[in-house]
Amino acid sequence: MEPAVLKQLRFSTMGERLTDPAIVHLMANALSNPEILSLAAGFTDNTALPLDLVKEVVTELAQRPDGSEILQYGMNSGRPGLRRAVAGLLKGYSGEESIGIDENQVLISNGSQQALYIATQVLCDPGDIVLVEKPSYFVYFEVLKGLGVEPLSLPSLPNGRIDFDGLNTLIDRLCRSGDINRLKALYLVTYHANPSARCMPEEDKRTLGKVLQSLDIALPVIEDAAYRDLYFVDPYPAQSTLSLPEYAGLPILYAGTFTKPFATGMKVGYTCCTDQQLLGKMLNVKGQQDFGTANFTQAVIETVMHDGRYQEYLSKIRPHYGRKMKILHNALEEEGLRELGWSWDEPTGGILLWAGAPEGFDTRFGSTFYNSCLSEGVLYVPGDLCFAEGSPTNFVRLSAGVLSEDRLREAARKFVRSAKSTGQGA
Ligand SMILES: Cc1ncc(COP(=O)(O)O)c(C=O)c1O
Repeated sequence: MEPAVLKQLRFSTMGERLTDPAIVHLMANALSNPEILSLAAGFTDNTALPLDLVKEVVTELAQRPDGSEILQYGMNSGRPGLRRAVAGLLKGYSGEESIGIDENQVLISNGSQQALYIATQVLCDPGDIVLVEKPSYFVYFEVLKGLGVEPLSLPSLPNGRIDFDGLNTLIDRLCRSGDINRLKALYLVTYHANPSARCMPEEDKRTLGKVLQSLDIALPVIEDAAYRDLYFVDPYPAQSTLSLPEYAGLPILYAGTFTKPFATGMKVGYTCCTDQQLLGKMLNVKGQQDFGTANFTQAVIETVMHDGRYQEYLSKIRPHYGRKMKILHNALEEEGLRELGWSWDEPTGGILLWAGAPEGFDTRFGSTFYNSCLSEGVLYVPGDLCFAEGSPTNFVRLSAGVLSEDRLREAARKFVRSAKSTGQGA
C-alpha cells in the first residue's frame, strides 16, 4: 500500500487566528494538581447552588398537565414568560421603574457569553475596534481576538475611573486618523466588575453618555451587568444605560445572566436590546447557531422568577458570598499583604478581588511570583490578561467563589507567603 500523503488541513482566516486561550493554561495548571487551591476560577460555590430548589421545581413542572412541553424545542428568542420576567426584573431596579421595555426586546441566550459573542459578530468586522475598560473581562478579549477585532482601552485615572480628558483626546485622535470609522462598539462591565470588582459611578456613566452623543456615529453600548444582583448588602445605586437619559437614542445592549446569581450550570443569560434592527440580526444568528436556548433550564428559571423563589434564594446567597469575600480580604490583610505594598479595595459584591502589587512586581504566567504560587499550590489570574494592551503587569484577579472558607484562608496564606518570598520588584 502507498504511504498516506500528509495533507494540510486548511482553516478559515478566523480558524487560523485562534490560539489557545489563557484559560487553557490555567486549567492545565489546575488539572495537573487536583489539590491546587484555585483563586483563579470564576466559578460560583457548589455548596451554595440551588440544588434542592431546582429538584423541587422540576418535579412541579413535570406534574403539570402539559409537563412534557419543557422537553420540547422552545422559541428562538426564549420563553415568553421568562422574557417578561426579565423585563420585570430590569424595571424593578431603583430609578428604572419607567424604562419602556417589554419582552419583545429581550433575547434569552446560553449564558450572557453567547449574547456578547453574537452582538460583537453582527457589529464588527475584522480590523474593527471596540472600546473597553482598563481592565476588562479577559474572556471577552478572546471573543474579540477570534473575530479579529481590536480592543482599545478607555483612558483611566489611577483610581480606576474613566479619564474623560484622555477620552476626548483619544476620540480626537480617532477622528483625525479616520479610525473612528472602525469603532463599532463600547463594552462596559458596570456592576462588581470582572476583574476589578468596581461599579461604575452613575456620574461617570452619564458623562460617558454625553461624550457618545457628541459623536457623529450611533455607537452601540454593550453594558455587561453579569454581577449586578450579586451585591453583598445593598444594590449599587447607579442606573443602567437602559434608563439614563444621556443614552437615549443610542443602541443599548444590556447583557445579564442567571448563571452567576442562580446556577452557572444552567447557562441561561439574557439581553435587552433597544434597537430592533440589532436585536433582529442577533436573533437571526442565534437561530443559525441553536434556534433557542434550552427550554428546560429556562422553564426552571421562569418558574422561580414568577413566584419569588429566585429573589428568596438570592437573599440567602448574598450574605454567603459577602462572608466568603470578607474572609479572603481579611486573610490577605492579616497575612500582611498590604505591608508589602499591595493595594486593593474591599469588594461590595461579585466573587472577585482585584489587587495590585507594587510597580515593577511581575505577576504574569511564568514570572517568579506565578511559579512560586504554583509551587505553593495556589492559582490566580494574572492581571495583564485583563488589559487590552497587556500591561501593567503587576495585578492579580482573585476569586472567592469556589473555595471553602478554610481553603480560602489557606490560599490567602500561601499567596502572601509567595509575595513575601518573591519580594519587591521581582
Ligand atoms: C463579566 C462577565 N460577563 C459575562 C460572563 C459570561 O457569563 P455566562 O455566560 O455564564 O452568563 C462572565 C462569566 O464569567 C463574566 O464574568
